[in-house]
Amino acid sequence: MRILFHAIGTKPGPWVDGLRAALPDADVDAWAPGAAPADYAVVWAPPQQLLDEQPRLQAIFNIGAGVDALLPLRMPAQTLLVRLDDAGMSVQMAEYVCQAVIRHVRELDVYERATREGQWSFRKPLAREDFPVGVMGLGVLGTRVAQALRQFEFPVRGWSRSPKQLDGVRCFAGDGELDAFLAACRVLVCLLPLTPQTDGILNRRTLGRLQRGGYLVNVARGGHLVEDDLLALLDEGQLAGATLDVLRQEPPPPEHPFWRHPKITLTPHTSARTDRDASIAQIAGKIRALRRGEPVAGVVDRARGY
Ligand code: NAP
Ligand code: GLV
Repeated sequence: MRILFHAIGTKPGPWVDGLRAALPDADVDAWAPGAAPADYAVVWAPPQQLLDEQPRLQAIFNIGAGVDALLPLRMPAQTLLVRLDDAGMSVQMAEYVCQAVIRHVRELDVYERATREGQWSFRKPLAREDFPVGVMGLGVLGTRVAQALRQFEFPVRGWSRSPKQLDGVRCFAGDGELDAFLAACRVLVCLLPLTPQTDGILNRRTLGRLQRGGYLVNVARGGHLVEDDLLALLDEGQLAGATLDVLRQEPPPPEHPFWRHPKITLTPHTSARTDRDASIAQIAGKIRALRRGEPVAGVVDRARGY
């Protein structure tokens, strides 16, 4: 069995060594143009050339949850496309989203500014019941995030394509229930995959339906957000602020208004990082299962886009 590794912006050495250790019978190499034919590829945002040169791949393993960078590429219909299935990401995402929501509701950003200016003054606490949080996308990550928010006793709502039942979470499903979902939220967390259906879904119309003084946490993809609409809604007071881990252009150009906007907290696409050891263990386990002819979790439905 032969495996190729290629991930843009990532040193291949530790991944190749880790895959060799996890699959001692495999011949594992970093991909280079003209590489000998392989059975599996482990990738992040590969060039079209890799797929054109490797038409006999049985499966492509994406070392992230989102496959929006892979799906536009040409590849044989029979090649399985497998995304990371948690692999240590959901706990990071839960931490990140809870801190963003708590920082806003406990006004920790306001306290930070005040103490820096030498002020030791108390504010009347806000009630968490006044901050119902809606999680868009109740998949591997969204479900964990919704459960974590419940632990802090926030009212939690969730929205997905197919109907769900989650303990303590008021669930909505499909386009027909989107507006009712939004109206039931003051804080909105985006954990949707980026697909033609969800591109630009965070816009003036949808964000305008949140309860006034709303707050946005986008940890999914920059393409979900219409950036000018966010700026307008912040100016108008419909939204009180936003925490954005992802942007349409990463990093944004120096003149981008989000860098210095007082109501926007930016982080550099770091809310849930790929954990190399957990990912290698998961991918190796799936390769072994596929070789035994068993099904694996996390196979992407290309028609659905995630
Ligand atoms: P997932 O398991 O595939 O879950 C996707 C969820 O979105 C599912 O609940 C799905 O509904 C729902 N959904 C998809 N299309 C929809 C639509 N048109 N309308 C309503 N709901 C829709 O994905 P995941 O593992 O939770 O990851 C979610 C996304 O997070 C990834 O695609 C990636 O873009 C992003 N991400 C970001 C970071 C970061 O560091 N910022 C890290 C990891 C992942 P059904 O359940 O009905 O199918
Ligand atoms: C990161 O953004 C991922 O999709 O895993």
